Amino acid sequence: MKKICLLIACLSLCAGLAAQTIKLPEPKKDATMTLYQALQQRASVRDFQKKEVSDQTLSDLLWAAVGINREDGRLTAPTAMNTQEVRLYVCKAEGCYEYVAKDNSLVKLSDKDVRKDIAGRQGSVADAPVFLVIVSDLTKYRFQDAKTAQFGAIDCGYVSQNICLACEALGLATVPRAGMDEAVLTKEFGLKEGQVLLINHPVGYEK
Ligand SMILES: Cc1cc2nc3c(=O)[nH]c(=O)nc-3n(C[C@H](O)[C@H](O)[C@H](O)COP(=O)(O)O)c2cc1C
Repeated sequence: MKKICLLIACLSLCAGLAAQTIKLPEPKKDATMTLYQALQQRASVRDFQKKEVSDQTLSDLLWAAVGINREDGRLTAPTAMNTQEVRLYVCKAEGCYEYVAKDNSLVKLSDKDVRKDIAGRQGSVADAPVFLVIVSDLTKYRFQDAKTAQFGAIDCGYVSQNICLACEALGLATVPRAGMDEAVLTKEFGLKEGQVLLINHPVGYEK
């Protein structure tokens, strides 16, 4: 009986979270800043207003980060051997989501606000309304060795730079950060062995 109750509780929890999947507006892809202007302006920002980032702006940013830009499903960021092992998580006050590029949606994973856990001792960034967290899913590689770990880190770097430049183009501010509470994020994202937290980006409007 206990087992049945537990199963029902788990199923309703899963159904509740699934119901909270957010379909994002189509990315507009119409920012007018040139690549060279974005490169000229890119700079790390660590103080954010509490102002929210709209779903439209978030959709544009996520598409630039690691969205699909070709009919065969390839991405805005290159990945070694087209492994597409980069996973992008979106953390907001209302919880944690994973970005699913093929559906342009955010799948809810947790109701916890983890922004302070990501900011850690660097409290100034905790005001950012959104954190993007980049994970390398090394289990996608046939072999797990030093070389594939390197590929994973390199591929996440491309996504991080896409985020930096798209933030400039969209009037947003960010900083790439290595520091974060990995134990909390591993739990809330449901990460498994071989899925490695590499870098995070607080995203918002500069104070
Ligand atoms: C891999 C990596 C990790 C970083 N980690 C942090 C961090 O934990 N906290 C932080 O404030 N900045 C972090 N930064 C940002 C750098 O400090 C910043 O890029 C550098 O000081 C140069 O400044 P700029 O980005 O304005 O050119 C990191 C940058 C990279 C590429």
